[in-house]
Amino acid sequence: MTKIKKIGVLTSGGDAPGMNAAIRAVTRTSIFHGLEVYGIRHGYEGMINGNMKQLKSYSVSNIIQRGGTILKTARCKEFMTIAGRKKAYEQLKANQIDAVVVIGGDGSFQGARKMSEEYEIPFVGIPGTIDNDLYGTDYTIGYDTALNTVVEAVDKIRDTASSHNRLFFIEVMGRDAGFLALRSGIACGAEAVLIPEIETHADKLKSYLEEGFKRKKSSGIIIVAEGEKEGGAYEIAKKVSKDFAEYEVKVTILGHIQRGGAPSAFDRVVASTLGVAAVDAIIDDQKSIMVGSVNNKIVHVPFNKTLKNVKNIDNSLIEISDILSI
Ligand code: ADP
Ligand code: F6P
Repeated sequence: MTKIKKIGVLTSGGDAPGMNAAIRAVTRTSIFHGLEVYGIRHGYEGMINGNMKQLKSYSVSNIIQRGGTILKTARCKEFMTIAGRKKAYEQLKANQIDAVVVIGGDGSFQGARKMSEEYEIPFVGIPGTIDNDLYGTDYTIGYDTALNTVVEAVDKIRDTASSHNRLFFIEVMGRDAGFLALRSGIACGAEAVLIPEIETHADKLKSYLEEGFKRKKSSGIIIVAEGEKEGGAYEIAKKVSKDFAEYEVKVTILGHIQRGGAPSAFDRVVASTLGVAAVDAIIDDQKSIMVGSVNNKIVHVPFNKTLKNVKNIDNSLIEISDILSI
C-alpha cells in the first residue's frame, strides 16, 4: 500500500498546448485513486511561496481544449539555489504534499531531480515543451500542436512567396533543437531546413540556391531553427541577400504564436495518457523519473538518464527533406 495521500502538480518553464489536458489527467487520476491533489501555481515560484490550492474534479472541467496552463508557469531563479529549494520543501511539508508531478521541459526536470536528491519526496515529470527535445520519449506535449501551427502559417506565406517570386527565411522555435524545424520543413515542402544539429548546411544552402536559380526556381521557403548556429533567420538572410542579389529575400519570425492555441487531438491524447501514467508511477512508489511514450508504450526514464543524454534528430528525416527539395 502506498503512503501517498496528497499529490502536488505544477507546470514550469515554457507553456505548451496540452499542459491543461495533463493537469486534468493528473487531477482526475489522483481523485479516482482516492488521493487529494493540489495545484501549485506559477511553477517553482508557487512551491517556494506556498501558492497552492486543492483541485477537485470540477476544477479541471472545460480545460482539455485550452492552450496555456490554468496553473500558470514561471521561470524561477530562486529555485536554482539550495536555500530556495529548502523553502520549497518546507512549504510542501507544511501543506502535507507527499509527491509532486512536474509538467515541463529539461530545465524543470533539472530542478525536480535536485529536489529528489536533496529531500525524501518523490518527483515525477511529464514532458511538456513544443521543442520535443527530451531524451527518452518520442513526443513531448505541445509539439504536435506547434507543428500544425507552423505548417498553417508557412502555407500562407508560400502564397506570397510564389506570387511575388520571393525567397522567405522563416524562423521557428527551438532554442537548442531542430525537431520542429525539420518536421515542419518536410510538411511544408520547404526548399531547405537549417537546424543546429547539422553544421554543414550553410554550404548546402549555397549550392542549393545556385542550383535552384539555374533551374529557374523563382521562389522558395527556407525553414531556420531559432537555435541555428549562424545566428538565426535574419543573419542568414542578410548573407544570402549579399551573395544572391537575384532573389528578393524576406524574413518571418513566427515567434510565440507557436506556443499558443488549442491543443491538437494528438497532444490531448498524449497529455491524458502521460497524466494517468505519472499518477500510476507515484502510486507504484517511483521517484525521480519522467514518464514518456516510446512506440506508443509508456516508459519510465530516470531524470538522470533523460538529462544526461541528447535526443538525436532522425537522420532519415534529413535525407527525406533533402531528396524532396530538389
Ligand atoms: P523548461 O523546463 O521549459 O526547459 P527552463 O529551462 O526555463 O524551462 O526551466 C524552468 C525552471 O526550472 C527554471 O526557471 C528553474 O526554476 C528550474 N530549473 C532549471 N534549471 C535548474 C537547475 N539546474 N537547478 C534547479 N532548478 C532549475
Ligand atoms: O522551450 C520552448 C521554447 O519555446 C524555446 O523553443 C524558445 O527558445 C523558448 O521557449 C522561448 O521562451 P520564452 O519566450 O518564454 O523565454
